[in-house]
Amino acid sequence: MAEVLKGLTCLLLLFAQKRGNVKHLVLFLHEAVLVQYVDTLKLAVPSLIYTLQNNLQYVAISNLPAATFQVTYQLKILTTALFSVLMLNRSLSRLQWVSLLLLFTGVAIVQAQQAGGGGPRPLDQNPGAGLAAVVASCLSSGFAGVYFEKILKGSSGSVWLRNLQLGLFGTALGLVGLWWAEGTAVARRGFFFGYTPAVWGVVLNQAFGGLLVAVVVKYADNILKGFATSLSIVLSTVASIRLFGFHLDPLFALGAGLVIGAVYLYSLPRGAIKAIASPSTSASGPCIHQQPPGQPPPPPQLSSRGDHITEPFLPKLLTKVKGS
Ligand code: C5P
Repeated sequence: MAEVLKGLTCLLLLFAQKRGNVKHLVLFLHEAVLVQYVDTLKLAVPSLIYTLQNNLQYVAISNLPAATFQVTYQLKILTTALFSVLMLNRSLSRLQWVSLLLLFTGVAIVQAQQAGGGGPRPLDQNPGAGLAAVVASCLSSGFAGVYFEKILKGSSGSVWLRNLQLGLFGTALGLVGLWWAEGTAVARRGFFFGYTPAVWGVVLNQAFGGLLVAVVVKYADNILKGFATSLSIVLSTVASIRLFGFHLDPLFALGAGLVIGAVYLYSLPRGAIKAIASPSTSASGPCIHQQPPGQPPPPPQLSSRGDHITEPFLPKLLTKVKGS
């Protein structure tokens, strides 16, 4: 259902882009989805992997204590960085790798602290299967996310078109899975049996959360998405202090501190590690941009493979804010 909603939303947005002209929309979809069918088929890969990933997560959650699942699932931060380097030729500095490790550790601590001990382990849990499922989910999250980013940024199709194509495959796969697993029950009780308000909440969250992920990947990237979601976990926990009477404890403070420190470190420009490692070169204080006055700025950095080095994002954001 989430895939259907996602697809319909994209269709609506494309319709608005065509200024409400049905003929233009149909011609556009015919060209983009059917004529350029190779591009459409490419979306089958992330769709299949995301479907597997979403199901593997249920296997992992039912076979692992909540805290273990939450902590191990954060490994996706590292798999995403790894796939970004391998598939998009991104280059990360040592400092950025360190910051990703800190991010993983910080968000894992926050998640573990939130999930708590969880009481005695149910007898029917299979931790081996749970762990295998969570590792597979992390690999699939990294691969599917980066593959989708490659498609989005490597072609001219809009984010709504790509999500519509993703939604088409997602809907088809979901229907096959539903027919396979629950076909007789659905035939007897109807498609919407059991759709309580809570279930609709999950469906809406999945559909619009998925669209948000796509927009983030289009305008930023998958690694930055990891930072954004980690920060949001910390902020929502802080928000729950007021809303649900959550108590801050030293473990949470440590995890949150690591996440914030990781964001800062990842955002430092290249060369900052040298300035940090040898303070003598930055004796005048923590100034990172060491450019002689009157000199033109250095050209954009390229790695040894000739690709663009991943840039720090905070300075970029600051420049945008100043310029706007
Ligand atoms: O854990 P992770 O960040 O990999 O989860 C991404 C989620 O976003 C998945 O549940 C996937 O189904 C969803 N998604 C989506 N549409 C996209 C990209 C991701 O629904 N274009």
